[in-house]
Amino acid sequence: FKQSNIRNFSIIAHIDHGKSTLSDRLIQHCGGLTDREMAEQVLDSMDLERERGITIKAQSVTLHYTAKDGETYQLNFIDTPGHVDFSYEVSRSLAGCEGALLVVDAAQGVEAQTLANCYTAIDMDLEVVPVLNKIDLPQADPMGVAQEIEDIVGIEAVDAVQCSAKTGIGIDEVLERIVRQIPPPQGEPEDPLQALIIDSWFDNYQGVVSLVRVKNGTLRAGDKMTVMSTGQSYQIDKVGFFSPKQTETGILRSGEVGYVIAGIKEILGAPVGDTLTATRRPAEKPLPGFQKVKPQVYAGMFPISSDDYESFRDALGKLALNDASLFYEPENSAALGFGFRCGFLGMLHMEIIQERLEREYDIDLITTAPTVVYEVEKTDGKIVKVDNPVNLPAVNDIETIFEPIVEANILVPQEFLGNVITLCVEKRGVQTAMNYHGKQVSVTYELPMAEVVMDFFDRLKSTSRGYASLDYQFKKFQPADMVRVDIMINGDRVDALAMITHRDHSEGRGRELVDKMRELIPRQQFDIAIQAAIGNHIIARATVKQLRKNVTAKCYGGDVSRKKKLLQKQKEGKKRMKQLGSVEVPQEAFLAVLKVG
Ligand code: GTP
Repeated sequence: FKQSNIRNFSIIAHIDHGKSTLSDRLIQHCGGLTDREMAEQVLDSMDLERERGITIKAQSVTLHYTAKDGETYQLNFIDTPGHVDFSYEVSRSLAGCEGALLVVDAAQGVEAQTLANCYTAIDMDLEVVPVLNKIDLPQADPMGVAQEIEDIVGIEAVDAVQCSAKTGIGIDEVLERIVRQIPPPQGEPEDPLQALIIDSWFDNYQGVVSLVRVKNGTLRAGDKMTVMSTGQSYQIDKVGFFSPKQTETGILRSGEVGYVIAGIKEILGAPVGDTLTATRRPAEKPLPGFQKVKPQVYAGMFPISSDDYESFRDALGKLALNDASLFYEPENSAALGFGFRCGFLGMLHMEIIQERLEREYDIDLITTAPTVVYEVEKTDGKIVKVDNPVNLPAVNDIETIFEPIVEANILVPQEFLGNVITLCVEKRGVQTAMNYHGKQVSVTYELPMAEVVMDFFDRLKSTSRGYASLDYQFKKFQPADMVRVDIMINGDRVDALAMITHRDHSEGRGRELVDKMRELIPRQQFDIAIQAAIGNHIIARATVKQLRKNVTAKCYGGDVSRKKKLLQKQKEGKKRMKQLGSVEVPQEAFLAVLKVG
């Protein structure tokens, strides 16, 4: 393909604004797939993603489109994830492109998530092409939303293309805009090879597959390539593109996007953001990569049955093969035994990993309450990072605790502004900016990350009837009066239930937590005392009263089958319980801390 006939683009869209539907349409229009293949929305490949309706991994598809000017173009579409937890992955997809479609639901308007990603695209010098989707809806307001794009995003949108990914109206025009407005890739086919790794994943049959964008030079099967950060060289086995089926071409030229397979056994051997070059004629410098991501939230994960420990470790190893942002290391808890301390990008990431472990690997887990990473300055001047409440130094050894603060951008219709401000204040937020754009208001808050990663997103959604949207990034560490609250069950401190919280909230949260746990811990043959404490100071207590002996016998009566069913149910329920000393504690109790405050 002539380089001048290549277009590389991504789609930036808020969840549910129609990115998957639109990309399916584009693929179908260019004849990439049969109807049956279309049925399985190809770009969202994992089941779980499909069920949750979100896109996580970057994927790509190469399409051929004959435009109205009579020329045939190669369109390389690189998918981007839509959820706030994964927004860092957007920049890696954008790094492979010259342009991006900004898809906005014409009935909903601009949302914060798209805004942040749009700025990233603009910063990276990409051409942003606005697309108003869902114009078939009666409540669509394309002119109003175009104005909103101009006001809030700051790009021209009066003549934005209007389409309906659902009915197919305007899809032609979307393709024409891609060809006309997005510039072709620059780059020298004769220069030494520089190919940017956009994504790498592990395939059981092929080993590591990397999605790359060739910036300069040519990538050929049979040649040897060097991974620039590690200096390791590999024989290139296969090269090609996704149509979306894997299609081998043996060659990728400058400007093109496709895959390379080179007998690499671990994804860390082909790190995302790294540069591939030719071993025989290497490039002098790697391409500017993109920011490496660090986990933001840590939690302990413990198999309910200790027999599962080995398979749990293997499963984590397998998941980490395809997910470089998943961190894990062994953790030993007095209450929960052997498990792993795991690091995640956010709560959604954590839930997805937990679900995959349980569904795909059949391991029942107890997950402890997630926590962010604190910086603690000790009285001896040393600074330690603490990602586990258990590791918080003794009170007398602490000089200052610094908590991570994020900058949160929230877009909300005016009528819900009051609710959003109330929520932010409750979460210890400090307002730094507020701007009105027509019906919408954009507010910026500095908020403790610990407050944001927990239930903030859900609370924000419910307090604004789903209309508010959020984007946030780490800003700084700031001194804060944090304390560790311990939970004791029948006098024993349970390490896995400890939490770090602000002193002002500690009593309220301790109170709520013990109340919550009283509801969650089933009655047993004896009274169970639940206490919350800061050091030796008890701040709250509650009691689970013992069972009255004859109750069970009575209600089961003589109905044998019913009794069996109950027992079976109890057994299933048991799987999710953990024996702490003489007390059985259900999984929910370990996460109850998420539900308080
Ligand atoms: P994520 O994959 O989670 O990022 O969502 P998405 O942005 O890909 O949204 P998706 O394509 O799954 O569409 C969300 C919903 O909007 C689906 O129910 C679609 O059927 C619907 N939808 C998409 N495009 C249109 C459209 O043009 N008109 C109408 N009426 N509905 C649409």
